[in-house]
Amino acid sequence: MSFIPSSGSGKGADLASKPVDVVIMAAGKGTRMKSRLPKVLHTLAGQPLLQHVFDTAAGLMARKVVLITGHGAEVVEASCGKHAAMAERFALEFVRQEPQLGTGHAVQQALPALADDGMVVILSGDVPLTQSDTLFHLLSVAAGQHLALLTLELPDPAGYGRIVRGADGAVQAIVEHKDASEEQRAITEVYSGIMALPAAALKRWLARLDNRNAQGEYYLTDIVKFAVAEGCSVQAYKIADAVQVAGVNSPVQLAALERAYQLRVANRLMEEGVRLADPARIDVRGDLSCAHDVSIDVNCVFMGQVSLGEGVSIGAHCVIANAVIDAGAVIHPFSHIDGEKLGVTVGQGALVGPFARLRPGARLGAEVHIGNFVEVKNSTLAAGAKANHLAYLGDATVGERVNYGAGSITANYDGANKHRTVIEADVHIGSNCVLVAPLTLGAGGTIGGGSTITKSTEAGALTVARGKQISVPNWSRPKKISKS
Ligand code: UD1
Ligand code: CA
Repeated sequence: MSFIPSSGSGKGADLASKPVDVVIMAAGKGTRMKSRLPKVLHTLAGQPLLQHVFDTAAGLMARKVVLITGHGAEVVEASCGKHAAMAERFALEFVRQEPQLGTGHAVQQALPALADDGMVVILSGDVPLTQSDTLFHLLSVAAGQHLALLTLELPDPAGYGRIVRGADGAVQAIVEHKDASEEQRAITEVYSGIMALPAAALKRWLARLDNRNAQGEYYLTDIVKFAVAEGCSVQAYKIADAVQVAGVNSPVQLAALERAYQLRVANRLMEEGVRLADPARIDVRGDLSCAHDVSIDVNCVFMGQVSLGEGVSIGAHCVIANAVIDAGAVIHPFSHIDGEKLGVTVGQGALVGPFARLRPGARLGAEVHIGNFVEVKNSTLAAGAKANHLAYLGDATVGERVNYGAGSITANYDGANKHRTVIEADVHIGSNCVLVAPLTLGAGGTIGGGSTITKSTEAGALTVARGKQISVPNWSRPKKISKS
């Protein structure tokens, strides 16, 4: 695995092919989140901040990721363990920083885990939206031998490390805000917190750090002056997109970054032709892929992997997770579709909702209708089947054109085990039936309304299983006894 230059700069190909190791700093306390949860585990677009940083590292084809933990180390490390897929993408190694004596001290803890032959990219666990492309470019600027700093211009640079340049424009140092002179504080080019450099140089320079500064911390940023003193070139790659380097320190910043992310997703969808009723009122927490002529009304949330076929229409206030919705299907407002691990599929031209609930394993064929207050779980409905009102289908196999009456349910759970209900093609089930599984209702049969069905039925038969109706003619109701 090696670093691929972002665009065809032919020079330094051998240097640029060094392996990339990523260091993620995540030992800080995150006091301003005012939360028991470690900061890097707070979520943006449904994923922990740290997951976003891991994704960036994976996009960079990192050989290894070294995660520096401190505050909440056990919780952070345990949560990484849950994401087993991570280990396939790069080798993940944890190092602990106790106590936290600054960013330079943090990276010092990672040095034993870094091989000398690599390029190191330093990231922070609380900066979630950096794009891999940006880092590829930073690496191409470092060209296997320089110190490359990701910088940006900020109208209000207070709090940040300033990029101090010499008369020739070359970077001389990063001076932290608290250590900066008035003159230096006027500099608006700041260090983003992200750098790329050769591992061997990082090791050499970090050995020289001290903490004689305004905060009594070991500043990673001090390595710039060591690089300059050694005659090693320091390159600044300035980006205009502040969102990519924005850190999360408070719930307000987290929410602002979430909105920025969602607006980007919305714009990308609209560029692909999706019609959004309001780009400010859609949330995508995962991957949403859309064919042509998809329209999405306000306040919809998409989670996990969702795919919408051509011409699909999603009504307002739907929550849709892990589902494949085929061409021409219409999901009416307030429907909840959650495929979780098994997935949900909605066939061509199907109508779902309003107020429908499709749970894991719901598989709707073409032109199926699922109406209001109908719940479907782990059930297959063949083409043209309909359950239009107030019903439950769990662990059922439903044939073509079945009509499933209002208020009917499959009693699929006997308190210990789940059983299947098979409803063959063209069965008509009246209202308010209880189908006690396991059962097979033969093709073309009819079940009278209000029946509790406990045995399988023959094809074509009418089955009624309820108390027989009786009438008492001329019935006079009891009368109140008058008290004298
Ligand atoms: C740092 C930079 C500053 C830059 C800014 C960008 C230094 C000295 N300064 O500022 O130039 O403009 O980032 O946001 O590097 N962390 C640890 N261990 C520590 C201290 C910090 O792991 O001992 C982690 C934090 O959890 C965080 C990251 O390092 O993820 C950055 O720390 P933070 O305190 O936010 O950075 P600053 O020192 O403010
Ligand atoms: Ca700090």
